[in-house]
Amino acid sequence: MTAKGEAKSLAVEPQKGGHTVPRHVAIIMDGNGRWASARGLPRTEGHRRGVEAVRRITRACDARGIAYLTLFSFSSENWTRPPEEVTYLMGLLRLFVRRDVAELDRQGVRIKVIGAREGLQPDIAASLDEAVLKTKDNTGLVLTLAFNYGGRQEITSAVQAIAEQVARGELDPKTVDSFTVEKNLSTFGMPDPDLLIRTSGEQRISNFLLWQCAYTEFVFAPVLWPDFDEVAFDEALATYASRDRRFGGVKAR
Ligand code: IPE
Ligand code: IPE
Ligand code: MG
Repeated sequence: MTAKGEAKSLAVEPQKGGHTVPRHVAIIMDGNGRWASARGLPRTEGHRRGVEAVRRITRACDARGIAYLTLFSFSSENWTRPPEEVTYLMGLLRLFVRRDVAELDRQGVRIKVIGAREGLQPDIAASLDEAVLKTKDNTGLVLTLAFNYGGRQEITSAVQAIAEQVARGELDPKTVDSFTVEKNLSTFGMPDPDLLIRTSGEQRISNFLLWQCAYTEFVFAPVLWPDFDEVAFDEALATYASRDRRFGGVKAR
């Protein structure tokens, strides 16, 4: 691949040195079940409390000048959980749209959704559409909900879309580069995450934003998601600010 091709693939410019506040923060909100189990409560109670952390961190992003927040809310693999838990999580999304979207709209938040539509109940898909539509003209924080999302599934869909363009004669395979792939991802138009936070001490990506995290800084916070607050968030931001991002180059002097 040519250097030119590479530069083009980074068209949605990664954040370079000198920025202490990340432009885009992505979070794997993990540990709800353990939070509840530790208190002798059903796992669903952990999810309910997790929504409060979503409210806190959304406000905190706005206050800190972060432009994009992407939250891993339900993974493609979360369908393998017990049906009662899946049903509860779907109910929580309905409730979130009903209770929180009006307030987010007032705050100027623009909601985006990434993830597969297939498999979602029609009213869940409609709830997501409603949230996006209601907030589409807002100019504040871009809050992306990754719902029924899997990184491999997203890349597979992009490959399929590209193959269809080639089959229709609209695209010459020789011209396919990183930017072609980016254009076919659900995150197109957003900068890649500068910082990925995963709570609960687990240190894995669990199929989240696989393509987009090529040069993302990872911070693994020990705290469980329902306990994640401004203090824990600021600690993660401070860790990010202390990192030296090189993007494969050498440190600028
Ligand atoms: C994250 O918390 C929420 C979702 C995956 C929806 P978990 O439910 O994974 O909590 P733990 O990891 O079991 O503690
Ligand atoms: C990732 O957490 C998915 C979400 C936070 C929505 P999981 O709890 O599902 O991931 P694993 O199973 O521990 O890898
Ligand atoms: Mg988990």
